Amino acid sequence: MKTFSITKELVRVLKKERDTGRSVGFVPTMGALHEGHLSLLEESKKHNDITVCSIFVNPIQFNQKQDLEKYPRNLNEDLRLLLSVDCNYVFVPTEEEVYPGGIPELNLNLGRLDRVLEGKFRPGHFKGVAIVVKQLFDIVNPDKAYFGKKDYQQLLIIQHMVSELNLRIQIIPGPTLREHDGLAMSSRNLRLTIGEREVAPMIYETLCKVRDKAGEMPVKELKQWAIRKINSNSLFQVEYLEIVDKDDLHPIGSWKEKNNAITCTAVFLGDVRLIDNIELFS
Ligand code: PAJ
Repeated sequence: MKTFSITKELVRVLKKERDTGRSVGFVPTMGALHEGHLSLLEESKKHNDITVCSIFVNPIQFNQKQDLEKYPRNLNEDLRLLLSVDCNYVFVPTEEEVYPGGIPELNLNLGRLDRVLEGKFRPGHFKGVAIVVKQLFDIVNPDKAYFGKKDYQQLLIIQHMVSELNLRIQIIPGPTLREHDGLAMSSRNLRLTIGEREVAPMIYETLCKVRDKAGEMPVKELKQWAIRKINSNSLFQVEYLEIVDKDDLHPIGSWKEKNNAITCTAVFLGDVRLIDNIELFS
C-alpha cells in the first residue's frame, strides 16, 4: 500500500496502472474509517485490479464550523485498517492539493434532489459534496466508484452528477453496515456519550417498524407515529423523517407507491446529528 498527498504523484502512478490495462476502483472517504467504509473497499478489491481510497475532510461540505472542527481524525488507525483490506493506494491530500485554483464552480441541475431532506437542513452541503467528488474523480479517474446507501441522498446526487456530466464512471452502491444492535455505523457515533449510545438503536428500530407497518395506516399518520416514537425519549430530537420516492425523493402520498419508497431520517441525539434510512420495498 502506498500513500500519496501530492495530486501529481498519484495521477502519474495511476496513469501507469491504466496504461498497463488495469481497472481502477475508488472509495472516497473523510476518514475515521469503520467497517462501513471497509465493506466498500472490499467490494472494490473484488471487482477492480487497483483500489484507491481518499481521506479528505472536505471543509466546503460542512455548513457548521463546529461540525468540521469536531470531525474525528485518526490517520494512523485509518492506514492500519486500509492495510488490513489490502488497499493499493491511499490519497491524503491537503486542501491546496484538492482545490489548487480555489473552489471551482460546478453547475448541476439536481432538481429537487438537493433541496429536500438533508438539503433543506444543510444548505450548500451537497454542492460541497458534488464539487469535491468531481475534483477527486478528475484526479483518480476511476472505472468504478463506491458509495454507501447509508448516505442515500448523497448516492443519488452523485449518480445524477455522473449522468448529467456524462462521466464514464460506474457508481456502485453498497449496503448500510450496522452495529450488532442495528445502529448504522458512522464516524459520528464516536461522539455519543455512553447513555446516548445505549438508546441510539431506537432510530433503526423505529425505521424497521415503519417498514413493517407500511400499508397498515395512511402514510402521513405512520410518519407522525414514527416521529412521536423517537421523540418520546427526550434525548432525541427528530429533525426530519420523510417517506419518499427512492428515485426523485418526492414525498409519497399513498401506499400505491410503496414499492418505490424509502424512509429517511435525521435525528439529533444530544448534539450529535445521526442519519439513517430504510427501504420499504425489496
Ligand atoms: P464518509 O462519511 O467518510 O463516507 C464515505 C463513504 O462511506 C460514503 O459513500 C458513505 O455512504 C459510506 N458509509 C458511511 N457509513 C456507512 C455505513 N454504515 N455502511 C456503508 N457505507 C457507509 O460520505 C462522505 O464521507 C463524504 O461526503 C465524501 C463522499 C467522501 C465526500 O467528501
